[in-house]
Amino acid sequence: MKGNFLWGVATSAFQLEGSLDADWASWDSILSSNPDITNHYTLYKKDLQLLKELGLNAYRFSLEWSRIQPRENIWDGKAIAHYQEIIDILLENNIEPMLTIHHFTHPLWFIKKYPWHNEISIEKFLAFAEKIVTKIKGVRYWITFNEPYVLILGGYLEGCMPPGIRDTSLSLRALKNIFICHARTYDIIHSKVPKAMVSIAHNMAAFAPWRRWNPFDRAIAKIGKYVYNHSLLDAFLTGVMRIKFPFRREVEVELPIKDKLDFFGVNYYTRVHMRFNPLKKMCIEVRHRDIDGHGLTDVGWEIHPYGITKVLRYASKLKVPLIITENGIATHDSEKKIRFMKRHVDMIEKCIKEGIDVRGYFYWSLIDNYEWLQGLDARFGLYKVDFDTLERKPTAAATYYSYLIKSRNF
Ligand code: BGC
Repeated sequence: MKGNFLWGVATSAFQLEGSLDADWASWDSILSSNPDITNHYTLYKKDLQLLKELGLNAYRFSLEWSRIQPRENIWDGKAIAHYQEIIDILLENNIEPMLTIHHFTHPLWFIKKYPWHNEISIEKFLAFAEKIVTKIKGVRYWITFNEPYVLILGGYLEGCMPPGIRDTSLSLRALKNIFICHARTYDIIHSKVPKAMVSIAHNMAAFAPWRRWNPFDRAIAKIGKYVYNHSLLDAFLTGVMRIKFPFRREVEVELPIKDKLDFFGVNYYTRVHMRFNPLKKMCIEVRHRDIDGHGLTDVGWEIHPYGITKVLRYASKLKVPLIITENGIATHDSEKKIRFMKRHVDMIEKCIKEGIDVRGYFYWSLIDNYEWLQGLDARFGLYKVDFDTLERKPTAAATYYSYLIKSRNF
């Protein structure tokens, strides 16, 4: 590791530490027998030591809002001090903190009383953001929201995440409110933190038609690619988001986010194949297929390293520095994890050589954790966690990652 390239790992608070006051705590029954998950909230010092062991110079992590504001009118100063301590430890060890303000979870009171489609959600979230930006010191890199599209898809279209709604028009209201919050939080951060670098983390994917010869499959894959990847990029460029679903009228949403970005966070995991199927919702069927022989992950996602070059090329139209804020694989097989990392980093190197301004790579994740829809057996960690004893053990992929970052000269 020679230049200023950020080599890190990414985590999220709830996935490591749980929280009884969060909406997800009562959403998934696995959490009633493992409420503390890896108990990172207590074991954080040991876990931060692992970052040093790996030789990283950056760490992306998030705040658990429900610990900081467990009730509507109660702020827990100790919880804020806890996250500040993490930042202080990172800085003492020359590790650049990248702080995510919102990573999927909410305090239960918020999601019950002011879910995102309710306009008051804006005021409530901004009170939290303002508190954090005023109190927290030493952070230059900020992510306001992790994967707002996934939040909307899961929370408002598929209903598999809180608030568990399935309603297209409410989803558009929620989307708008979330991006208003992004824009205002961007301004709050810039008013208080000189030289701040602010972004969201956007989940991007490669899209392909299931049957190349079929024009309907090709059309659907094209729409999928536009809506999932590009509509948000275009909204950052123009202030207007265009959303089009097959056989529906295009919807235009004005969002106050034009240029509200200092870098762009890309989360990349996989490619999806899409086909036209009149029996499915919106006539879309999505599947993962092992086309190139790289295999599927334990959660069934296609391993498709080339796709990272595509999404980086798409994102480069924003003309801001790009950072891979997440990339990782769920597998029990460390050799597979190593191959995954190497192939993706090779592709990033190719992009950098082509002139794309990529400034960092964060592997997801440091240790095994709670995976939203798959529970505790989706093993993304460089360190394996025994969920009974909470012991963390390095996998061969941890050793490999340390070697990898020393061997590249970005
Ligand atoms: C999310 C993480 C999640 C990971 C693996 C990302 O989309 O930000 O919270 O664990 O994917 O599914």
